[in-house]
Formats: sequence, structure tokens, C-alpha cells
Amino acid sequence: MSGREEAPFAGASAIIFGGAKGIGKAVALEWARRGASIAIADIDLAAAQETADEIIESGGSAVAIVANVLSQDSMQAAAGEAEAAFGSPDIVMNNVGAILNGHPLDIPVEEWHRIFELNYFSIVRSNAIFLPAMLKRGSGHVVNTASFAGLYPYAAGRIPYASSKAAVISMSENLALLLEPQGVRVSCFVPGPVMTAIAEGMKDWTPDLPMYGPGSETSLLDTHTAARVLADGMRDGRILIPTDPVAFDIIARRAADPDTFTRGKIASFASGDVGMPKFE
Ligand SMILES: NC(=O)c1ccc[n+]([C@@H]2O[C@H](COP(=O)([O-])OP(=O)(O)OC[C@H]3O[C@@H](n4cnc5c(N)ncnc54)[C@H](O)[C@@H]3O)[C@@H](O)[C@H]2O)c1
Repeated sequence: MSGREEAPFAGASAIIFGGAKGIGKAVALEWARRGASIAIADIDLAAAQETADEIIESGGSAVAIVANVLSQDSMQAAAGEAEAAFGSPDIVMNNVGAILNGHPLDIPVEEWHRIFELNYFSIVRSNAIFLPAMLKRGSGHVVNTASFAGLYPYAAGRIPYASSKAAVISMSENLALLLEPQGVRVSCFVPGPVMTAIAEGMKDWTPDLPMYGPGSETSLLDTHTAARVLADGMRDGRILIPTDPVAFDIIARRAADPDTFTRGKIASFASGDVGMPKFE
């Protein structure tokens, strides 16, 4: 590993909410490989322990902590445990997110609230816990996980998800404006399709509504590739970090003519193209 690859990870302490499985697990392994000590804070303590054990077996430092990001008290307790293990976290990743599928009129308002609580307000809670110490120190790095679904319109079957992720992008970029001049870095991780079990147990509110995807120019990635892209982006000082740079081409096309972009999506959905990514 080059010295350049090690920053900002070597010697750092990190906490990852939702770090037990899927993308969060791969990020935990990647940051540990680059020299960070990782607190894996997850509602699934057994899976968090498995991930921590994998890191420790490969020579890294990790601890598993139970945490429910729906509860301020639970997140606060997790922060205390992480600090006791490795000191006040230098890097905080807010990675928990849940999806659903359904026509907006079939989705009860309580479900819209549940999705926003998990995907967006979990980050609001995290900010309240971790930002004061980071600002006092004048250092730290916050990483919030969004989605391609928050970048451009395609996820018509999961509008609560897409709009919560758009809110995560807006929050992250606006936080960067405020915090970066005070020494605290902010990155927004924006995955396209990644192979995980996120759709297992997903609530489907409208039978037969297709699961619309981000388009055939996007690719389905494995979690380790996604985690490497994130770590390289953080190393390179980036704010918005999509898993695939094709995202920038897509949003440039949209910015050039938003209505034509959206009407193009309407036309391709009408033709039966639901926007499946490439399987590589
Ligand atoms: N997989 C994809 O294709 C994809 C694409 C774009 C964005 N994302 C985003 O990436 C993030 C991770 O997704 P993933 O695919 O790895 O999902 P996943 O379901 O595999 O992992 C989510 C993790 O969060 C934990 N978790 C769930 N509820 C929790 C709670 N209340 N408190 C604490 N932990 C909780 C789970 O136990 C699990 O370890 C999410 O924010 C998701 O929206 C995923």
C-alpha cells in the first residue's frame, strides 16, 4: 500500500452505522486494510461481530457495537462505546438505508416516515452526536451514504427512498459548505446498483409495479469495488463520490435539458425498458 493510499485512514478511528453487512461491511474491511480502527455499529450485533472478527483475523482493529439508528439514545451509547474502544471517532459513516417498492398512493404515510427516519433523520441524529467534538478539534470526516436514486429521476417505484436520498445529498453538500472551512470534511457516497441483500424483506406495496433501475449505462458492482471507490475518493479529498463516474455524465445530460431527460425516462418505461443495469 502506498503512503498516499493510507491517508486519511492510517491511525484513524472510525465508526460505521450499518457496517455489519453489505456495502458497510466492505467499507469496514477496506478502511481497516488501510489502517483505521473500526467500530461496527449495527442493529444486527451477530453480523457486526462476524465483520469485526474478520478484520481482527486479518490483523486489523475492530469492535462490534449494537446500535439502532432510529434511536438517539442508542446512537449516543454506541458513540460512547466506540470512543472507549478507539478514542473519539475521526471518521463517522452514516450508511443505514432501507428501500421499498410501491405506487406512492399505496404507501401509507407512516411508511414514508419510516424510510425518512432510517435514511435521513439517522444522519441528523448522528450529526448532533459527533459534530460538536469534530468542530472543537477542527478535524474529522463525515461520510453519508446516498444513492443514484437521489441524483436523477428513475426510481418511480420507490419515491420515499429516492427523495430521502436526494435529501441526504443536499444535506451533505450543504454541510460541506459550513464544515470544511472549519476543518471537518464531508463526503457523500453515492452508490449505483451494488450486489447486497438490501432487497431481502423489502416491503412491496403495489404488486406488479416494476422495480425501476438507473439505466443500462450503469453497472451492477460488487461491494468491494464500491468500497474501494469510496476510500479512494476520500483519500483524494472528494465530496460527492459516486461508485461509477457514469453518474456525472448522466447528471450533465439532465442538467443540459431536465425536461427532455425526464421525458426520455417516461418514454423508455412506456416501451417496457425498466432501466436494468448491466451485469458485469
Ligand atoms: N445495494 C445497493 O444497490 C445500493 C444502491 C444505492 C445505495 N445504497 C445504500 O447503501 C447503504 C447500504 O446498503 P446495502 O445495500 O449494503 O444494505 P444492507 O441491507 O445489505 O445493509 C444495511 C445494514 O444496515 C443495518 N441496519 C438496518 N437497520 C438498522 C438500524 N435501524 N440501525 C442500525 N443498523 C441498521 C443492517 O443490519 C445492515 O448491516 C444504504 O444506505 C442503501 O440505501 C445501496
